Amino acid sequence: MDKAAVYRDLKAEIESVVAGETSVTARYATASCILAQAFRPRFFWTGFYVVDPLKDRELVVGPYQGTLGCLRIPFGKGVCGHVAATEEAIIVPDVHTFPGHIACDSATNSEIVLPVFGADGKLAAVLDIDSTEPDAFDDADREGLSAICEILLVA
Ligand code: SME
Repeated sequence: MDKAAVYRDLKAEIESVVAGETSVTARYATASCILAQAFRPRFFWTGFYVVDPLKDRELVVGPYQGTLGCLRIPFGKGVCGHVAATEEAIIVPDVHTFPGHIACDSATNSEIVLPVFGADGKLAAVLDIDSTEPDAFDDADREGLSAICEILLVA
């Protein structure tokens, strides 16, 4: 099966598990678990940093699968903070060349980060996936993951 077909199946699986679930935490936890299991070991860290409503332009760690993640990331800092500030997905083939990359785990070599928007169109979170493999992500990942991000906040 090609990657696009795998992502279509995963999206359908996530949609069916979270159908009717109103907790965003439960929806993010389900997505991070299903994605991490489906793509292990390529997906080494899979999870969400959510926009903290109590802070000015700051992300706080949400549901994830993987090694210990850092707790807070200001907008503009590292890859996740960059995506929070620009609201555009990014693929980083080599994190060691990304200015200000936050090395929560030094085993990470590449990553993809995508924005997650709420029903109100505002940024709600970012989906952060890290790999120990260099250059582990491509456009098929970006497209597949972006389609999954679109269904996460719709209860
Ligand atoms: N890679 C992220 C930091 C978070 S963790 O690696 C779990 C970044 O530079 O934004």
